[in-house]
Amino acid sequence: MIDISAKFPTLRRASARAELAVQATTFARIASNDLPKQDPLIVARWAGIQAAKRTSELIPACHQVPLDWVEVHCTCVPDEHVIIVRATAVADYKTGVEMEALVAATIAALTLYDMLKPVDQSMYIRTVRLEEKHGGLHPSPSPTRRPAACVIVISDSVLAGSRADRTGPAARAALEAQGFSCGPPVVVGNNPPAIAGAVRSACDLGADLVITCGGTGLGPRDLTASALRSVLERETPGIAEWLRAYSRHRTPRAVLSNGIAGLRAGTLIIALPGSPRAVTECLTALAPVLPHALDMVRGEGHGEHNHD
Ligand code: MTE
Repeated sequence: MIDISAKFPTLRRASARAELAVQATTFARIASNDLPKQDPLIVARWAGIQAAKRTSELIPACHQVPLDWVEVHCTCVPDEHVIIVRATAVADYKTGVEMEALVAATIAALTLYDMLKPVDQSMYIRTVRLEEKHGGLHPSPSPTRRPAACVIVISDSVLAGSRADRTGPAARAALEAQGFSCGPPVVVGNNPPAIAGAVRSACDLGADLVITCGGTGLGPRDLTASALRSVLERETPGIAEWLRAYSRHRTPRAVLSNGIAGLRAGTLIIALPGSPRAVTECLTALAPVLPHALDMVRGEGHGEHNHD
């Protein structure tokens, strides 16, 4: 089973189709409701809906997806000697619902088979296939050049040498794993002029992304947000909102972070909390949006790939 704990929910939708080939005479029996097990189309529809909800019990590596909607329709097509099953599943979840749609279509087709076998001994299921799948974020194409990131660790104790810096290396590793080039972390104290100066220099040196770590809490020396406001030309509040929204599923203390984000010329600047765990979690949360954010900062707008 894949670990999806770091993923976040998006609207997922999938449709599947199954086809049951039947004898021409079977359609007349269905139309006249002349079958020992009663109406196969209605029973198969409900069987498919029930089955979709049990996908994780049937298919070992499937997650327990909280389904928002399942629909199954069975349509007779006498000219083609086939009953077509169409199943759709929808969920606001971290993983896709194609297995739910496929299970619904398959079980509906098998139920049709069971309901019709007293009158049709030559039936067969001739296809089960996924018809469409939407939702989730598609990976962005690789940029033409590696974007440059700069990590600034804001900590009096790390600057004084009384505490080793574990946050900067964690941020650098996470950024490099996302395709950024990133030099060694810069360390400054919880001192607004020093913070503003370090961020300005990173921007002047051409960083695409500046990540500050620490000083976003409620302590008297947590002054990162006000220091950054003196440097930012434009705030991007959605990024900070997103980080807090994502992080509150990791710790309720996420609300204590005053992290902000914004732009200075061509640089995106994001203030993260200071613990290695928080930085790793926040960079995980940012991974799906950073490539598109940097495209937009560069004036490249929305590519086709960014829309489902
Ligand atoms: N966000 C995430 N994702 N994970 C965390 O562990 N820690 C919180 C919060 N945000 C945390 C988090 C805590 S305990 C605090 S006090 C605030 O960030 C501020 O952290 P800072 O003072 O290190 O900037």
